[in-house]
Amino acid sequence: MRTMDKVKENTIFFLLLAAVCSTVFGDGEWGASIPSSLDALVSSCIVIPCTFTHPAGHLPHSRLRGIWHLSDKRNEIIYHEDKTKILESFKDRTDLKGNLGENNCTLEITPIKDHDNGPFCFRLEYVRTDRNEPTPEKFSFADQCVEFKMLYTSPEPQLTQLKSAVQGKPYTVTCSVHHTCPLHPPTLSWTLGTADEIAVKHESQNLGRWKTESILTFIPVEKDDYTELTCTATFNGGAISSKSLTLYVKRTENYNHIIIPVAAVVGTAIVFGLFCILMVKKYKTRISELQRQDGSMWNRMSRLSRSLNNVNSKTSKPRFPSPKSHPKSYNYEQDLGDGDDYINTADLNVYGNI
Ligand SMILES: *[C@@H]1O[C@H](CO)[C@@H](O)[C@H](O)[C@H]1NC(C)=O
Repeated sequence: MRTMDKVKENTIFFLLLAAVCSTVFGDGEWGASIPSSLDALVSSCIVIPCTFTHPAGHLPHSRLRGIWHLSDKRNEIIYHEDKTKILESFKDRTDLKGNLGENNCTLEITPIKDHDNGPFCFRLEYVRTDRNEPTPEKFSFADQCVEFKMLYTSPEPQLTQLKSAVQGKPYTVTCSVHHTCPLHPPTLSWTLGTADEIAVKHESQNLGRWKTESILTFIPVEKDDYTELTCTATFNGGAISSKSLTLYVKRTENYNHIIIPVAAVVGTAIVFGLFCILMVKKYKTRISELQRQDGSMWNRMSRLSRSLNNVNSKTSKPRFPSPKSHPKSYNYEQDLGDGDDYINTADLNVYGNI
């Protein structure tokens, strides 16, 4: 009896443990996380993000079967691992990208056709082995279906610049576009800039919505002013859209147009002024030199003329004596002798001055 009690006790203990373990580790509930609506660009692709939980917890991919179907008709299948079960209009366009073993039921549809609006639902099938009779478990997550909003023209990229362009300073402009195909995102190209001036970023916005961004950073030069900068988005499937902005490059303050002529004028004035001063100086010395020379010459001349006058005044009478005063001529001859001496001395004086 004691052993029976012990066995009972142990059984209760293990049952309790199993219960606790199943609530902690088992996912228990059927559940799926699928966006209710997504934008679908016709001719491009779409990726429907999808995760799920089921009562068996974790099972390998091989033991699970994921099916995507039209919401109201379970037999109108758009994805099945058995391709023959897929609707003709969806054959070869759908691919399960998620690993069911990781509870990932992500589906890609490419290319999108204009009748693909849905809604599309996910269904999970597996065989429970912990039961005596192996009946397959099937569950359609019919309350978690996705509907597509069809886009017939590709969305326009958006251009944003945080600051306006300034000549010689790094300038950044961002081109971004929204999409729903992260496996084949759109490519963005610019009419300006080299590869090392462009950075690309892929960002998940929320369930299934993505943003691709191209960040162009370059140093604008004067000739970039008024140029058209265009960003072109090429979507998977070939759809194209673009957006442009006109670059206005703010010039860095440049006073050369004022400084250069002013400097030229000032420089010329200084050179001319210096030239004038030098010329004046040169001529002043030259003039004073000339004046000195002139003065001595003048002095000489004036003295000479004075002396000559003196000589004349003393000699004129005797030299040209009136014929009427002959009687005085003798006296004069004597005087003349004195006069001659005088003249001589005067002459000496004159020449002595030279
Ligand atoms: C599901 O699978 C897709 C495709 O492989 C992957 O991109 C995505 O990150 C996965 N999701 C989760 C939640 O692991």
